[in-house]
Amino acid sequence: MTQDELKDAVAAAAIDEVRPCLERDSVLGIGTGSTANRFIDRLALLRDDFRGAVASSEASAERLRGHGIEVFELNSVGTVLFYIDGADEVNAHLHLIKGGGGALTREKIVAACAERFICIADASKRVERLGEFPLPVEVIPMARSYVARELVRLGADPVYREGVITDNGNQILDCYDFPIDDPLAMEARLNGIVGVVTNGLFAARGADVLLLGTDRGVERIT
Ligand code: 5RP
Repeated sequence: MTQDELKDAVAAAAIDEVRPCLERDSVLGIGTGSTANRFIDRLALLRDDFRGAVASSEASAERLRGHGIEVFELNSVGTVLFYIDGADEVNAHLHLIKGGGGALTREKIVAACAERFICIADASKRVERLGEFPLPVEVIPMARSYVARELVRLGADPVYREGVITDNGNQILDCYDFPIDDPLAMEARLNGIVGVVTNGLFAARGADVLLLGTDRGVERIT
């Protein structure tokens, strides 16, 4: 199967996962990226079965509205039933690297609020050790050079993602050559650098369920 077919398969599996739990007042958290987009497109068919969604990016919000799904501010919502999103890497503990699309901060916030986080990914995202994919770090613009120097001290090779401004008005450093043996500890360590808004490690709040698209079908991993 192609990567696109695998993404379609996990999007469909995620619909099967959430559908039985939806109620008229349910609010879903929706991620960002090509896999999440496939989920959004399928969710359109269920739009009358739940209240609406909270989006992790302006792009996803626009796509949801385009399908007639109401988008709420997170602050006006009580409970987020599920957060459904893709990932750039996922390990056996369902720790993730996210933020390839630059939406890591809002993704982390919505994931934190969700009762359950369903990660949808094709098999290419599954790794033994996180860090082959360059780890994104969102920074306050005036702190970019300082944060970059601190990242070098930690062993990373940070590269400024030029021309990219996040939905929060910040910039991104991508950490190359940065294998991560202890995602929980590194997530906390990076968050401790002054000027860092968020880093793309999702370990403290990893996924609860991984729907992994493989040639043998969709594997459900918890
Ligand atoms: C965006 C993300 C995405 O979930 C991640 O980049 C995966 O994207 P795709 O589904 O297009 O492979 O974290 O910030």
